[in-house]
Amino acid sequence: GLTRNFSNSTSLNAIKTVTVVGGGLMGSGIAQVAAQAGQNVNLIDLKPELLDTAQKSIQNNLHRVARKIHKDAPAKIEEYVKEASERIKVSTNLEDGTNADLIVEAIVEKLDVKQQLFNRLDQLCPEHTILASNTSSISINEIGAGIKRKNKFGGLHFFNPVPVMRLLEVIKSEQMSEETYQAMMEWGKSVGKTCITCKDTPGFVVNRLLGPYSAEALRMYERGDASKEDIDIGMKLGAGYPMGPLELSDYTGLDTNKFVLNVLYEKTGNPVFKSIPLLDKMVAEGKLGVKTGEGFYKYKK
Ligand code: NAI
Repeated sequence: GLTRNFSNSTSLNAIKTVTVVGGGLMGSGIAQVAAQAGQNVNLIDLKPELLDTAQKSIQNNLHRVARKIHKDAPAKIEEYVKEASERIKVSTNLEDGTNADLIVEAIVEKLDVKQQLFNRLDQLCPEHTILASNTSSISINEIGAGIKRKNKFGGLHFFNPVPVMRLLEVIKSEQMSEETYQAMMEWGKSVGKTCITCKDTPGFVVNRLLGPYSAEALRMYERGDASKEDIDIGMKLGAGYPMGPLELSDYTGLDTNKFVLNVLYEKTGNPVFKSIPLLDKMVAEGKLGVKTGEGFYKYKK
């Protein structure tokens, strides 16, 4: 109680500056929602071209948000986009992002690369900085195995597209402090998300449950029990899902869907996650869904 020293702890609402490492699909969305919430954002990636692409996609998305808020007021729309995008500073130098209250990692899904990054951040960042990973499939505790500030580390798992999807999974690492947990939950709320909490388990809540559903839908289609359209209509109108399972797979990317199922199988041994020949075949043929113009359905590129 009284003898506790709070000087190094991040108090609630203390997160004013956020660094996002990795400016791809997820990182650019995370940077965007933090900037929309009025926070100062550093966005770090490996090459200037990648940062240019990230900035362009953020600008486009901010325009869409601004048009919704300000409808037919072009000046206000421009002002909103300008203000929010000016809060995002981009750099290829990690050290430009180390002086932050929170760092969210959204780089490649590789354990050793993530570990290296976190070890470096642990050394470079001031004591109060909270470190978080947006990983979908790697154990949070393993990612942080080499860092000292284990009390200030955890998972912040966003969903694609980040500016649209309302959920954030806050993953408790083994040694996360209550202060860190509260700060993460508060921050999630501040960027407009509803937060749920999950232990460091394979797939966390959403992917662990979506996996068997998606796998069974693929097997149903593979067996020819029903047409793809009927499977999708069935789950939309019968279960109230906004997208059917095959449409969702096209949207997520069949390669990502396959990857998630493989990891869940490796980690849980549950046969429901076993590889599905139809999915393997489509991935091998490059039918990855919306991003390649064809998956279960065809799309205009
Ligand atoms: P992405 O490939 O679009 O973006 C990754 C970015 O990180 C690239 O721009 C790359 O240049 C950069 N990068 C790689 N190594 C780096 C390093 N050492 N330092 C700085 N930047 C580096 O990948 P995406 O889809 O955004 O995924 C990123 C993370 O988010 C992964 O851990 C993934 O599991 C997780 N995630 C992905 C979701 C999805 O639907 N794609 C959903 C939720 C989480």
